[in-house]
Amino acid sequence: MPSTRCALVVLISGSGSNLQAIIDAQKNPDFPAEISAVISNKTGVKGLERASKAGIATEIVSHRDYPNREIYDAELARVIDRYNPCLVILAGFMRILTDDFVNRYAGRMLNIHPSLLPKYKGLNTHQQAIDAGDREHGATVHFVTPDLDSGPLIIQARVAVLEDDTADALAARVLEKEHIIYPRAISQVASGHVTLANEVVSLNGEPLSGPQQL
Ligand code: GRF
Repeated sequence: MPSTRCALVVLISGSGSNLQAIIDAQKNPDFPAEISAVISNKTGVKGLERASKAGIATEIVSHRDYPNREIYDAELARVIDRYNPCLVILAGFMRILTDDFVNRYAGRMLNIHPSLLPKYKGLNTHQQAIDAGDREHGATVHFVTPDLDSGPLIIQARVAVLEDDTADALAARVLEKEHIIYPRAISQVASGHVTLANEVVSLNGEPLSGPQQL
């Protein structure tokens, strides 16, 4: 029977633990999305292994093979579009994307970022939260727009920052929450419960005043 689920293309660069959470979620027949392909810009990463083990098509589009970002992103888009996805899912894809690429998937591309956006865009978010003396830290799923780690927020999960926390310990606790909120956000967008119009995220037709909280 042909699938009527929303086809996902997932982009990774590494461990793929969020990818694994999506693979686990899609085992439920009520999950409204299904991964068509996993694309990595790096060879030999654990995420590719996870995909193969789940019987999902994998592709490597190595940034090393292309002279510049524009040409790389054009090739990446060409490979993605072969799968005709309804959503493109960035899951630890460690590349800055060109505006053309982002605009091509406007409203159809999600990212997960390990901070309570708009705090701490970019890298080393866990250490930044510790250094700032934050009591709370977390992760955010958002629609992707051309500005790095910006774009309309869908859902956040919070964790307490403990006394004497290390960046690694904090990252591990945040990651556990990521594995809950990413499949949830994907499900909401794939099913049409969450929509984006004019930069505003709505849930069941009601504009959200801020991201949903786990
Ligand atoms: C996660 O922390 C995610 O928030 C960030 O990159 C990391 C990816 O981890 N964007 P994994 O590859 O899913 O394990």
